[in-house]
Amino acid sequence: MPDFVGAVDQGTTSTRFMIFNHDGGEVAKFQLEHEQILPRAGWVEHNPIEIRTRTAAVIQSTLQRAGLQPSDLAALGITNQRETTIVWNRRTGRPYYNAIVWQDTRTDKIAAALERDGRGQVIRDRTGLHPDAYFSGGKIQWILENVDGVREAVDRGEAVFGNTDTWTLWNLTGGVDGGVHATDVTNASRTMLMDLDTLDWDDELLSFFGIPRQMLPEIRPSSDPAAYGVTTPFGPAAGEVPITAILGDQQAATVGQVCFSPGEAKNTYGTGNFLLLNTGTERVRSQSGLLTTVAYKFGDQPAVFALEGSIAVTGSAVQWLRDQLHVITSAPQSETLARQVEDSGGMYFVPAFSGLFAPYWRADARGAIVGMSRFNNDAHLARATLEAICYQSRDVVEAMQQDSGVVLDVLRVDGGVTANDLCMQLQSDILGVPVSRPVVAETTALGAAYAAGLAVGFWQDTDELRAHWAEDRRWEPGWNEEQREKGYAGWKKAVTKAFDWAET
Ligand code: G3P
Repeated sequence: MPDFVGAVDQGTTSTRFMIFNHDGGEVAKFQLEHEQILPRAGWVEHNPIEIRTRTAAVIQSTLQRAGLQPSDLAALGITNQRETTIVWNRRTGRPYYNAIVWQDTRTDKIAAALERDGRGQVIRDRTGLHPDAYFSGGKIQWILENVDGVREAVDRGEAVFGNTDTWTLWNLTGGVDGGVHATDVTNASRTMLMDLDTLDWDDELLSFFGIPRQMLPEIRPSSDPAAYGVTTPFGPAAGEVPITAILGDQQAATVGQVCFSPGEAKNTYGTGNFLLLNTGTERVRSQSGLLTTVAYKFGDQPAVFALEGSIAVTGSAVQWLRDQLHVITSAPQSETLARQVEDSGGMYFVPAFSGLFAPYWRADARGAIVGMSRFNNDAHLARATLEAICYQSRDVVEAMQQDSGVVLDVLRVDGGVTANDLCMQLQSDILGVPVSRPVVAETTALGAAYAAGLAVGFWQDTDELRAHWAEDRRWEPGWNEEQREKGYAGWKKAVTKAFDWAET
């Protein structure tokens, strides 16, 4: 058995490849960013060709930097930004349109229409999702209705759909020369097209969006001993690696954080925040604005479900301070700037750039900064931005506690923003529970590697993986109860000021 496992993490802002050893330790990694294409207000796109080229490049570079051959990898897993939608021609390999990114709100009218005639309730019952522009169904419909020639190409069997996992898999396994057109249950559970009971595409749901079944990928387990296919990073003569896992990035982080038992949860701080609570083989229906989603399905074992609190804008609010307002020049500077003041000076920032996701699901919301006086400065804004990340997480933690009855005693965190010490301290203050970060903070890639390694017997079982988890850092709450409740009451009021700005 080779000594290592690899994972492609095709994320919202970058694509990385990581190699892990048998202890779950990081051996090598390399990443490349891709362009965020913002053609109009509310629209967010990626160039699929750029993603394809960069994926190939990061795999090659990481192997070269580590001095490893493809044959040194026992298996490879894929994890990805979920919901982002690509339709391409399987004969030419060319996309019909840019990838429509999960943050893109152009389909909010399609989503709103679903609510008007009862189809919304069918979607909620069958898919566990709240009808929203966030998910893939409306994005596929938009491409079918707005891009010339796609519908005819679907009828000819040439135009196919995939999220970025499927696009990556198809390209890594040969593309036009026989690429595998498949996805896994976790990604399929984010489309509004899969029934959570059958784990298959559902004809009635497909009819809501006018989507022909033949353009959809085959749905497979997240970790599959039968292998999705093989990839040859340096050409067929230089060796191949079996691809044995696919998981949406938030589900992969749940696996990477070894949340294998019901009641275990993790919160990932990336461009958005995603809190997932393992609910076991039972699907829990949320009464509080959370989603029900597939956490993972390993081989022929039953699927494990999760409740998810999705927050669209957290780390990307810090990027906005940097790229649009220019009050900082790097993301870490948000911490230095915010530390110049004791508190946010009464200011609240609700970064509802893509509407508000969980637990509000208000597509009509837009960003708001409230509570300002002339006293306020850029440092207060930086602090209010970090607090917004934490208040939004408190919103979903409260919803999760209501739905599941599980009272959080510690919050397991990961993702880029967890490097921001002040933000993590504020998170603990605002929640009133300790916040704990593991040694391997790249839990998304790690989770995909774990799922890939389990499929080929590189790791025997989830108990073996649990033993790898080790705490790196813990933050304890510093605020008293009065401070916490006063701050949160202000946030709840601020959120209402963000409603009713966009027409849907
Ligand atoms: O649902 C969207 C999520 O999968 C994106 O995650 O880490 O690429 O921002 P990330």
